[in-house]
Amino acid sequence: MTDLILALDVLTREEAIEIAEKTAPCLDSIKIGYPLVLGAGLSIAGELAEFGLPLIADFKVADIPNTNRLIAEHVFEAGFSAIITQGFTGSDSVTSCVEAAHDAGGECYVVAEMSHPGALEFLSGENAEKIAGMAVKCNADGIIAPATRPDRVRKLREIIGSKKILSPGIGAQGGSAKDIANMIDGMIVGRSIYQAEDPAKAAREYSEFRR
Ligand code: C5P
Repeated sequence: MTDLILALDVLTREEAIEIAEKTAPCLDSIKIGYPLVLGAGLSIAGELAEFGLPLIADFKVADIPNTNRLIAEHVFEAGFSAIITQGFTGSDSVTSCVEAAHDAGGECYVVAEMSHPGALEFLSGENAEKIAGMAVKCNADGIIAPATRPDRVRKLREIIGSKKILSPGIGAQGGSAKDIANMIDGMIVGRSIYQAEDPAKAAREYSEFRR
Protein backbone atom coordinates (compact mmCIF):
# COMPACT_ATOMS: atom_id res chain seq x y z
CA MET A 1 0.00 0.00 0.00
CA THR A 2 1.24 3.49 -0.85
CA ASP A 3 -0.66 6.09 1.12
CA LEU A 4 -1.14 9.74 0.27
CA ILE A 5 -0.12 11.94 3.20
CA LEU A 6 -0.85 15.67 3.08
CA ALA A 7 1.89 17.85 4.62
CA LEU A 8 -0.41 20.59 5.88
CA ASP A 9 2.12 23.38 6.41
CA VAL A 10 -0.33 26.26 6.29
CA LEU A 11 -0.15 28.85 9.04
CA THR A 12 -3.64 29.34 10.36
CA ARG A 13 -6.45 27.21 11.74
CA GLU A 14 -8.86 28.53 9.11
CA GLU A 15 -6.63 27.59 6.17
CA ALA A 16 -5.90 24.19 7.71
CA ILE A 17 -9.57 23.32 8.16
CA GLU A 18 -10.47 24.61 4.70
CA ILE A 19 -7.76 22.56 2.95
CA ALA A 20 -8.51 19.48 5.05
CA GLU A 21 -12.21 19.73 4.18
CA LYS A 22 -11.42 19.90 0.47
CA THR A 23 -8.83 17.16 0.35
CA ALA A 24 -9.68 14.65 3.10
CA PRO A 25 -11.63 12.25 0.84
CA CYS A 26 -8.46 11.63 -1.22
CA LEU A 27 -6.03 11.34 1.71
CA ASP A 28 -4.85 8.52 3.96
CA SER A 29 -3.37 10.78 6.63
CA ILE A 30 -2.36 14.34 7.44
CA LYS A 31 1.08 15.43 8.63
CA ILE A 32 1.45 18.67 10.56
CA GLY A 33 4.45 20.25 12.20
CA TYR A 34 5.86 23.51 13.52
CA PRO A 35 4.40 25.86 10.86
CA LEU A 36 0.79 25.00 11.70
CA VAL A 37 1.15 24.15 15.39
CA LEU A 38 3.04 27.37 16.14
CA GLY A 39 0.43 29.30 14.16
CA ALA A 40 -2.73 27.63 15.38
CA GLY A 41 -1.78 25.91 18.65
CA LEU A 42 -1.58 22.23 19.50
CA SER A 43 -5.38 22.06 19.76
CA ILE A 44 -5.47 22.07 15.94
CA ALA A 45 -4.62 18.36 16.21
CA GLY A 46 -7.93 17.64 17.93
CA GLU A 47 -9.83 19.61 15.29
CA LEU A 48 -8.11 17.85 12.39
CA ALA A 49 -8.64 14.47 14.06
CA GLU A 50 -12.35 15.03 13.43
CA PHE A 51 -11.75 14.36 9.73
CA GLY A 52 -11.19 10.74 10.73
CA LEU A 53 -7.69 10.48 9.27
CA PRO A 54 -4.55 9.49 11.19
CA LEU A 55 -2.45 12.54 12.12
CA ILE A 56 1.34 12.51 11.96
CA ALA A 57 3.32 14.92 14.17
CA ASP A 58 6.35 16.11 12.24
CA PHE A 59 8.35 17.73 15.02
CA LYS A 60 11.56 15.96 13.96
CA VAL A 61 12.23 15.40 17.63
CA ALA A 62 15.96 15.64 18.34
CA ASP A 63 16.70 15.74 22.05
CA ILE A 64 17.93 13.62 24.94
CA PRO A 65 15.84 10.52 25.74
CA ASN A 66 13.91 12.07 28.63
CA THR A 67 12.94 15.19 26.68
CA ASN A 68 12.01 13.09 23.65
CA ARG A 69 9.65 11.04 25.81
CA LEU A 70 8.03 14.18 27.30
CA ILE A 71 7.48 15.61 23.80
CA ALA A 72 6.09 12.33 22.50
CA GLU A 73 3.67 12.00 25.41
CA HIS A 74 2.24 15.47 24.66
CA VAL A 75 1.91 14.56 20.99
CA PHE A 76 -0.11 11.41 21.60
CA GLU A 77 -2.26 13.07 24.26
CA ALA A 78 -3.10 15.73 21.67
CA GLY A 79 -4.59 13.11 19.34
CA PHE A 80 -1.77 12.25 16.95
CA SER A 81 -1.31 8.71 15.66
CA ALA A 82 2.38 8.96 14.81
CA ILE A 83 5.47 11.00 15.54
CA ILE A 84 8.56 11.73 13.46
CA THR A 85 11.90 11.83 15.25
CA GLN A 86 15.40 12.58 14.06
CA GLY A 87 17.77 9.64 14.10
CA PHE A 88 21.14 11.40 14.37
CA THR A 89 20.61 11.82 18.12
CA GLY A 90 21.34 8.10 18.56
CA SER A 91 19.62 4.91 19.61
CA ASP A 92 18.76 5.90 23.19
CA SER A 93 16.90 9.04 22.06
CA VAL A 94 15.16 7.17 19.25
CA THR A 95 14.17 4.26 21.52
CA SER A 96 12.63 6.70 23.95
CA CYS A 97 10.39 8.12 21.21
CA VAL A 98 9.52 4.67 19.88
CA GLU A 99 8.56 3.41 23.34
CA ALA A 100 6.44 6.47 24.09
CA ALA A 101 4.68 6.04 20.74
CA HIS A 102 4.02 2.34 21.25
CA ASP A 103 2.89 2.86 24.85
CA ALA A 104 0.27 5.22 23.43
CA GLY A 105 -0.73 2.79 20.68
CA GLY A 106 0.94 5.00 18.04
CA GLU A 107 3.80 4.82 15.59
CA CYS A 108 7.26 6.38 15.37
CA TYR A 109 9.14 7.21 12.16
CA VAL A 110 12.83 8.08 12.07
CA VAL A 111 14.30 10.62 9.64
CA ALA A 112 17.08 8.73 7.85
CA GLU A 113 17.77 11.22 5.08
CA MET A 114 16.14 14.53 4.24
CA SER A 115 14.90 15.60 0.83
CA HIS A 116 16.44 19.07 0.33
CA PRO A 117 19.87 19.72 -1.29
CA GLY A 118 21.56 20.71 2.00
CA ALA A 119 20.79 17.26 3.40
CA LEU A 120 23.74 15.99 1.39
CA GLU A 121 26.17 18.04 3.50
CA PHE A 122 25.95 15.93 6.67
CA LEU A 123 23.26 13.31 6.79
CA SER A 124 23.32 11.26 3.63
CA GLY A 125 25.34 8.29 2.39
CA GLU A 126 26.77 6.05 5.05
CA ASN A 127 25.34 8.06 7.91
CA ALA A 128 21.81 7.82 6.55
CA GLU A 129 22.28 4.08 6.07
CA LYS A 130 23.49 3.73 9.67
CA ILE A 131 20.46 5.66 10.90
CA ALA A 132 18.13 3.39 8.89
CA GLY A 133 19.74 0.29 10.41
CA MET A 134 19.48 1.79 13.86
CA ALA A 135 15.79 2.62 13.31
CA VAL A 136 15.15 -1.08 12.66
CA LYS A 137 17.07 -2.12 15.80
CA CYS A 138 15.12 0.42 17.85
CA ASN A 139 11.85 -1.11 16.64
CA ALA A 140 10.69 2.06 14.87
CA ASP A 141 7.76 1.64 12.53
CA GLY A 142 9.63 3.07 9.59
CA ILE A 143 11.85 5.80 8.22
CA ILE A 144 11.57 9.06 6.32
CA ALA A 145 13.55 8.97 3.07
CA PRO A 146 13.77 11.44 0.17
CA ALA A 147 11.46 11.13 -2.84
CA THR A 148 13.89 13.51 -4.51
CA ARG A 149 16.48 10.68 -4.63
CA PRO A 150 14.88 7.36 -5.67
CA ASP A 151 18.30 5.66 -5.77
CA ARG A 152 18.72 6.45 -2.07
CA VAL A 153 15.24 5.17 -1.28
CA ARG A 154 16.14 1.92 -3.03
CA LYS A 155 19.33 1.63 -0.96
CA LEU A 156 17.56 2.41 2.31
CA ARG A 157 14.83 -0.13 1.46
CA GLU A 158 17.51 -2.85 1.30
CA ILE A 159 18.44 -1.95 4.87
CA ILE A 160 15.00 -1.66 6.45
CA GLY A 161 13.22 -4.52 4.66
CA SER A 162 9.49 -4.45 5.30
CA LYS A 163 9.47 -1.47 7.67
CA LYS A 164 7.62 1.49 6.17
CA ILE A 165 9.15 4.30 4.13
CA LEU A 166 7.37 7.65 4.11
CA SER A 167 8.78 9.98 1.46
CA PRO A 168 8.60 13.77 1.27
CA GLY A 169 9.90 15.80 -1.64
CA ILE A 170 7.21 14.98 -4.21
CA GLY A 171 6.04 17.92 -6.32
CA ALA A 172 7.40 21.26 -5.05
CA GLN A 173 10.86 19.83 -4.27
CA GLY A 174 11.05 18.07 -7.63
CA GLY A 175 10.34 14.43 -6.73
CA SER A 176 7.99 12.47 -8.99
CA ALA A 177 5.08 10.49 -7.55
CA LYS A 178 5.12 8.23 -10.58
CA ASP A 179 8.82 7.33 -10.11
CA ILE A 180 8.69 6.73 -6.40
CA ALA A 181 5.20 5.44 -5.53
CA ASN A 182 5.94 1.75 -5.98
CA MET A 183 9.05 1.92 -3.75
CA ILE A 184 7.45 3.49 -0.69
CA ASP A 185 4.58 3.18 1.76
CA GLY A 186 3.60 6.83 1.97
CA MET A 187 3.88 9.79 -0.43
CA ILE A 188 4.15 13.02 1.56
CA VAL A 189 2.92 15.98 -0.52
CA GLY A 190 2.63 19.52 0.79
CA ARG A 191 2.75 22.67 -1.36
CA SER A 192 1.73 20.90 -4.57
CA ILE A 193 -1.61 20.23 -2.92
CA TYR A 194 -2.28 23.03 -0.43
CA GLN A 195 -0.98 25.80 -2.72
CA ALA A 196 -2.70 24.42 -5.82
CA GLU A 197 -5.44 26.52 -7.38
CA ASP A 198 -7.75 23.58 -6.77
CA PRO A 199 -6.41 21.55 -3.80
CA ALA A 200 -9.15 18.93 -4.10
CA LYS A 201 -8.22 18.27 -7.73
CA ALA A 202 -4.48 18.16 -6.90
CA ALA A 203 -5.11 15.69 -4.07
CA ARG A 204 -7.25 13.57 -6.38
CA GLU A 205 -4.48 13.52 -9.00
CA TYR A 206 -1.84 12.44 -6.47
CA SER A 207 -4.22 9.88 -5.04
CA GLU A 208 -4.17 8.12 -8.42
CA PHE A 209 -0.59 7.04 -7.61
CA ARG A 210 -1.76 5.19 -4.50
CA ARG A 211 -1.46 1.46 -4.84
O1 C5P B 1 5.70 21.29 0.42
P1 C5P B 1 6.46 19.99 0.33
O2 C5P B 1 5.72 18.94 -0.44
O3 C5P B 1 7.88 20.17 -0.11
O4 C5P B 1 6.50 19.48 1.85
C1 C5P B 1 7.30 18.43 2.29
C2 C5P B 1 7.04 18.20 3.76
O5 C5P B 1 7.84 17.14 4.22
C3 C5P B 1 7.35 19.39 4.66
O6 C5P B 1 6.43 19.34 5.74
C4 C5P B 1 8.75 19.11 5.15
O7 C5P B 1 8.98 19.68 6.41
C5 C5P B 1 8.72 17.59 5.26
N1 C5P B 1 9.98 16.87 5.19
C6 C5P B 1 10.85 16.96 4.11
N2 C5P B 1 12.00 16.21 4.10
C7 C5P B 1 12.25 15.36 5.11
C8 C5P B 1 11.38 15.24 6.18
C9 C5P B 1 10.22 16.02 6.17
O8 C5P B 1 10.57 17.70 3.15
N3 C5P B 1 13.28 14.55 5.06
